[in-house]
Parts: sequence; C-alpha cells; structure tokens
Amino acid sequence: MDIITVETSPIAGQKPGTSGLRKKTRTFMERHFLENFIQAIWIGIGGVAGKTLVLGGDGRYFNDRAAQVVLRMAAASGATKVIVGQNAILSTPAASNLIRQRKTDGGIILSASHNPGGEDGDFGVKFNTANGGPAPEGVTAKIFEATKDLTSYQIMEAQDVDLSVLGTTSMGRMEIEVVDPVTDYQALMETIFDFDKIRALIAGGFTLHFDAMHAVTGPYAKAILEGALGAPEGSVVNAVPLPDFGQGHPDPNPIWAKDLMDRMFGDTAPDFGAASDGDGDRNMIVGKNIYVTPSDSLAALAANATLAPAYADGLKAVARSMPTSRALDRVALRLGCDCYETPTGWKFFGNLLDAGRATLCGEESAGTGSDHVREKDGLWAVLFWLNILAERKISVADLMADHWNSYGRNYYSRHDYEAVDSDNAEALMEGLRAKLADLPGKSFAGLTVESADEFAYDDPVDGSRSEGQGLRVTTSGGGRIVFRLSGTGTEGATLRVYLERVETDPAELDMDPQEALAGIIAAAEALAGIREHTGRDAPDVIT
Ligand code: G6P
Ligand code: ZN
Repeated sequence: MDIITVETSPIAGQKPGTSGLRKKTRTFMERHFLENFIQAIWIGIGGVAGKTLVLGGDGRYFNDRAAQVVLRMAAASGATKVIVGQNAILSTPAASNLIRQRKTDGGIILSASHNPGGEDGDFGVKFNTANGGPAPEGVTAKIFEATKDLTSYQIMEAQDVDLSVLGTTSMGRMEIEVVDPVTDYQALMETIFDFDKIRALIAGGFTLHFDAMHAVTGPYAKAILEGALGAPEGSVVNAVPLPDFGQGHPDPNPIWAKDLMDRMFGDTAPDFGAASDGDGDRNMIVGKNIYVTPSDSLAALAANATLAPAYADGLKAVARSMPTSRALDRVALRLGCDCYETPTGWKFFGNLLDAGRATLCGEESAGTGSDHVREKDGLWAVLFWLNILAERKISVADLMADHWNSYGRNYYSRHDYEAVDSDNAEALMEGLRAKLADLPGKSFAGLTVESADEFAYDDPVDGSRSEGQGLRVTTSGGGRIVFRLSGTGTEGATLRVYLERVETDPAELDMDPQEALAGIIAAAEALAGIREHTGRDAPDVIT
C-alpha cells in the first residue's frame, strides 16, 4: 500500500464552531474539503503518528465514506491504531466513553448532531481529546490555523475496510479494531443506575415511549430499554438509523419531536416519553401531559441525584451554561454546593469535570451529563429519570409540581430567529452592546433593568478567558433576558433570545410559559428592536 501526498491549497471557512466543523454535506463532499480538515486536525494535535484514536459517527449520509477517508489518512500519517464502531457508528457519548475506557489519544466523531442529514443536509467533523471531551479552544484554534496554510495532505492508497465485521484488521502498519457500538456504553450505564429497580418499575406496568428519531440512539435504546430493562417491544420507535434521518430533523424538542408530544398529550399517553438527537447526546423528557424543559430537567436531576447509585454520596458541584435557566442555582443553594456558569458549548464543562470540581452539568439546548463521560448524554438522562421515578414512585407531573413547590418555578423559553441576514443580526447585537452600560435603572415595557453585561468566562482550572459569550440583562421581578448568536447554524445567523422569570407564589406555578413570560418577551423587544433588525414578526422556533 502506498502513501500518496496530494497537493492542495487552503480552503476558507474551516473554523470549528461550538461543536466541531459543520457544513452542508455537499460542501464536505467537495474536492479536498474533508481531507484538508483532517490533515489540519493531525497538525493541530501535534501529529497523529504513534497515536490511537476512536472513530465513529451518527450514521448520516457520507458517514461511511468519510470514515474510510479518515482511516486512510490516519494510516498515511502513522497512527498506531483506530478503534471504530461497527459500520462506523458510535453515538457521541459512546465515543467519549470509548476514548476514556481504552485510554486512547482522542477520537474523531462524524456528526452534525441534531442538524438534518442527507445530501442536502449537514455534515460535521469533531475532534475529541484524550479526556473524551470536545477539543478545547486552544486545540481548535491550532486546527484552524493549520487549515490556513495547508499545501498537501497524506492519504493511503487502499481498499475500503469492511467495517461491518467485528474484530481486528490492518491497513499498512495501522491496526483497525471494529467494536460493537453499544456493548461498552451499556456496561457503563449498568454501573451508574439501578437497573433492577428500573426493571421492576417496568415489570409493574409503568409504560414508556422512546423516539430515536431515525438516528443513532435506536440500537442503544433497543438494547438497553427493551433488552436489558424489559420494556415491551415497540416501546422504542424510529429505531433504525437512516442516512437522512427519515427526512426528519433529529432534534428532540416540542417542535421537531411533534409525534412524541402528540402521543404524550393524547388519550393513550404512556407514563414516560423521551427522545434523543442525531448523535445521541441530547435528550427530551416528557410526562403525561407535561413537557419538562431541559433547564427544569437539569434542576430536578440535581435535586434527586442521590437516588441513583453513582451519585448516592452527593454532588461535588453542578454547572450550567450561562443561558440555561437559574433553576439549577436554586437547587445548588439548597444542597450547599457550587453552581458554575459557563459559556454555551459542552467543551467548557470539560475542565471542571476533569478537575473533579463538578459532577452534574447541563444546558438549555437539551444537553445533560455528568462526570461519567465528557459529552452530554441523551440515554443517560433518560435512565437517570427512570431511576428516580422508580425510587420515588410518582409521575413526572407530580415530581415537577413537587419540585416547583419546593424551589419555585423558573419559567423559561427560548425564541429563535433562524437564517437571519448576518449583518442585520450583528447590528442588533452591536446596538445592544453599545448601550449595555446605560441600561441599569431604565425601564423597558414596564420592567426595570437591574444589571446588564456581556458574559465572559474565566476558566477556574486553566485560567483561560472566553469573551463575547452573550449579552445578558436582568430585570425587576426576577427576570432575565439573554441575547446570543448561535455558534452552530450553517445558514446566515441564528439569533437566540433566552427568556426567564422566577415565580415563587404557589398559586402561580401552573401557567403557560409564554403567558408567564409575556412581560419579559415585551421587554426583550423593547430593548433590542428584534422585529426591526430581523424583519420578522415572530420567532421561527419557540422552545
Ligand atoms: C451543541 C453544543 C452545545 C450547545 C448547542 C447550541 O449541541 O454541543 O453545547 O449548547 O450546540 O449551541 P448554539 O451555539 O447553536 O446555541
Ligand atoms: Zn447532538
């Protein structure tokens, strides 16, 4: 087998975003595009020679072919070994687990997470470091630098490897081990949760419905929920991963998981509903007639954490991304533990988890996780909920009602304006940024601003500073509004407006969030002129 050196030139726009490099699938399929980026990863991590990597993806269109390219390029640049999920499939949390368990030097995850797949959809490549987590900004910056002056890449001239066969093979001097994607992940879950208790709950008639959204968690959920825990066949639906996710949008929220919502709010609703996203790291929790927001789910898990075996000794501390609601802070206060506030992006939790400073973390964007891996973990969250319900023997609705009575309710909603002209979105942010200092004391739609700033994060572990992480405004009446531009969109800009208000009056805990937040929504418009800047009358997506 020959190593070929292919001449290339830098391709613009290969800057990794919130979670790796995401582009249209067709862009990734353009000549040299994938190869350039992979070569830049090798350079950015100080070379791949002598290293062992994990490789897998969410099964979307181009996953299989991209995996073969990565293998040939790893072999050409001297990697010792690559551990690949069967058929190049690995959920993101399972990849994180493999990287850690097998003590590899890192891994490559092929995924654009919850973005639609297919030839006209999105594709993505992400590098995770040896701790199992997304590469920190220091590493992604080096990768980006390398994309800017590439003149060539190395690739092995070789046949495709048959990734459907478990076991070990080789390419040149590089070893390739094909592993079952589910086995090690399932084993890890069994060490964290009380499978016997959950099994007994289900055997006692508790019903559940898990929507894998034609994405990667299908095989995992089948094996764990139906196999190990005994849920009847059919409890897991849309369980076969498809290259285009069945033309769906594999993002578990009330908009895109509408079938699940209809079912959970219908006459024949099971006791518990859940969904996960394209690559298996996000989760959505629904009870009979109740959707649990990610921020509330995080707070409820923290408040009940000691009911699961792995967290029985309590939580060291908790962490949330800045735009995530402050429901978690109220729990932390009661537990007497710290609550860290980080920028959006799971990678910011990595240092806290590695340093043993936090146990549980989560984001409003449907990500929840703990120190068991270094990614958020969809099925883990589902099992955590099931473990808690099995212990407390109450419904999801009763658990949340109890929680709000005890801690107060942080009404919360996110309004997204998608594919907005980038210049207009920047203008909105810049206009607000320019007047932040003058806002305190002023009133907008009847609410007085108490504080306003642009969020910056000083990592307490490595001292690094991340600036420009969102504009936040707190108001009278326990309100907060955050404005941020998404770091994961692939078309124009996505403006995210995060709205929150805490309510402690026991008579006011059962409102529709949009109504409860009407005053905050009006203040956000008055503050930022969203309609004028975006040209939109209403958000595209409300979660
Ligand atoms: C990905 C990241 C998350 C992040 C989310 C939203 O899922 O892993 O950490 O919260 O994207 O990011 P965005 O920049 O689009 O708001
Ligand atoms: Zn994801």
